[in-house]
Amino acid sequence: MKQKIWIDCDPGIDDAVAITLAVACGEELELLGISTVAGNQTVDRVTENARKLTSFLGISQVPVAKGASGPLVRTPKFAGHVHGKTGLGDYCLPETDKQVEEEPAVLVLARTLKALPPGEKVTLVPIGPLTNIALLLRVFPEAADRIERICLMGGAAVGGNVTPTGEFNIWADPEAAQIVFTWGLPVVMCGLDVTNHCGFTREQAKDLKKSKHPVSQMVGELVEFYFQSPVYQGRERAAIHDAVTITYLLHPDWFTGRAMHVEVDCSEERNRGMTICDFRGKPGEEHPVTVLLQARADRVQEFWMEKLRAFP
Ligand code: RIB
Ligand code: CA
Repeated sequence: MKQKIWIDCDPGIDDAVAITLAVACGEELELLGISTVAGNQTVDRVTENARKLTSFLGISQVPVAKGASGPLVRTPKFAGHVHGKTGLGDYCLPETDKQVEEEPAVLVLARTLKALPPGEKVTLVPIGPLTNIALLLRVFPEAADRIERICLMGGAAVGGNVTPTGEFNIWADPEAAQIVFTWGLPVVMCGLDVTNHCGFTREQAKDLKKSKHPVSQMVGELVEFYFQSPVYQGRERAAIHDAVTITYLLHPDWFTGRAMHVEVDCSEERNRGMTICDFRGKPGEEHPVTVLLQARADRVQEFWMEKLRAFP
């Protein structure tokens, strides 16, 4: 049985790679839909990117639904300095007549979950701020019955990237993250502890760009743009954070993690958006959140190159 997944994203360079990887793993994953959220760029820009990307990847039939234009409470902050002014560096995806869904993302997602055959569930894969997921749970609490688990990119047991303790997806909308982490659904937190170590080198970006396949070329160009951003100056690898979620779904044995209680700092102080991971729990204690702490990064990167080179 394929795993049914729904990706909530803010494409975004690493979001685009994650979606491409999910499509490349279409034998194991059934992508039911994509929703967009303001994050790396405005919701209009990330939605336009998702609309074109589905067509470019040959999955035009997968619905794209536009979501929240900003966080629940905070002022929207974008990451143009990393993902460029379009959100996909300077890569131009081909035009397409693919249409975005009429209804807003939360409604489309709720309808999709409700329409699942009895007993079937979906794994949500949020790889941007958690605004849409928080709204879904608040407006359609019964939707939680159709959610298998939430495998998200965000947070960190130790560290941050926007601030020393804030990772962008959580920092951008801390209140939404607090709702999601404490809802009680099974959550796998793919935080910076693992995602910072999983990325491509400049060589790998060049290798992908040289490929005859337009999809691999796109990934190579996107990653190359990443290296131009101040974040990756002097770094050997550009972290493809979001693609770790898809990898975990298929190869959980490449990761180690620990179940623990997680809350989010919703202050406006220096630790805004910190995922407060409580390591004091006793072994065997039940906690719905599993924090990933280590990854077999080499194996993850090999898998990515293998899948992207052989894009169907
Ligand atoms: O901190 C990394 C996360 O922020 C990734 O999801 C990236 O796309 C940005 O949204
Ligand atoms: Ca993202």
